[in-house]
Amino acid sequence: MIKKVSFIELRSEAGFEDKVKARWEKALHNSEFIGGSACKEFSEKILDYTQTQNFIACANGTDAIQIALRAVGIGIGDKVLLPDFTFWATYEAIANVGAVPIMIDINPEDYQMDFDLFVQAIEEHKPKAAILVHLYGWCSTRLKDFRDYCAQKEIYLIEDGAQCMGSLYDGKPIFEKAFLATTSFYPAKVLGAAGDGGGIFSNNKEISQICTQLTNHGRSSHYGHEYIGWNSRLDELQAHFLIESLNFLPARISSRRQAEQKYLEFAKNNLALPLSMKQEPSIVKGNGYLQVSIANTSYKELSEKLKAKGIFTGNVYPSPMSAQKGAKQPIVINKNKLSNGAQISAKVLNLPLFPYITDTELNYVCDNLKEIIN
Ligand SMILES: Cc1ncc(COP(=O)(O)O)c(C=O)c1O
Repeated sequence: MIKKVSFIELRSEAGFEDKVKARWEKALHNSEFIGGSACKEFSEKILDYTQTQNFIACANGTDAIQIALRAVGIGIGDKVLLPDFTFWATYEAIANVGAVPIMIDINPEDYQMDFDLFVQAIEEHKPKAAILVHLYGWCSTRLKDFRDYCAQKEIYLIEDGAQCMGSLYDGKPIFEKAFLATTSFYPAKVLGAAGDGGGIFSNNKEISQICTQLTNHGRSSHYGHEYIGWNSRLDELQAHFLIESLNFLPARISSRRQAEQKYLEFAKNNLALPLSMKQEPSIVKGNGYLQVSIANTSYKELSEKLKAKGIFTGNVYPSPMSAQKGAKQPIVINKNKLSNGAQISAKVLNLPLFPYITDTELNYVCDNLKEIIN
């Protein structure tokens, strides 16, 4: 009888660790730590998986956004749009390059940046770039509209894909048609490293070249520095781990999706639950990154009741960016005073979901949810 279900566990396949160890031993033996064969092999594999043209590995997902912004020339005083409901790194990357973040409320249907408000903000603020965040492993129903509109208005669109590795939009890998997209290999992400890591995807060769240089001291040769970059390289040990993780990624995503489907099926048959479960928009096939529910009352109340049963949940994210202390004099575009982001953040609850979560664990969560009466 189980008594505890974690919110996230990093479970892997039988034999996975041995494969990684064998690679790491070889790298140690050959002293291949930076800029070796594993980074190259990983790049080739991930280009194939994502169906993109260029990939630049870097140190983490936050750097990836900053590098993308810098590569298209965003700097001091430039205005950049972002959703008000995301992880702080998106805001931080804009602020760190000296640009002005302008936050847009989310759509109450798909929880992604609202397209109509986005258009309004562009007319009002004339930004130079925008960051779209594919939150929860989904993306906006209107991703194509965002891309087309930015292309038409000559606004650089960067897609923060830290959460959507392996997701499909309109039946195709989500980054395939992105002008510039970034990702994170933080261990708890869908494709996670054994530490920090990140990457940038682009179908634009020139911009990809600048990104490559920015990650490595702006180098054009070993001691030739064409740009002020910094050190944001992915190391070989992480690349080896990521190669093996990528081999198992389809299986991990399938396991995540099965768990998500099980929750949804359970919710369909039990309408009196203390929460309602959200599903990705129909044009998206998500990667099962997070289970997303909305608590009938508050997130806190429900999570405490579940915790008492040994069930750990998430609240991704507890507040919009504009409400963060670090957001000085926030510029926000929304329809209502109490924004959708603020309303959702108070009620969003993420049930346990990770690769290879067992049926016993899922049943334990479901049975306890049924028992909790508001
Ligand atoms: C939406 C989003 N953007 C950016 C990041 C930053 O990635 P990292 O932690 O690798 O810097 C994360 C992950 O934490 C994220 O979820």
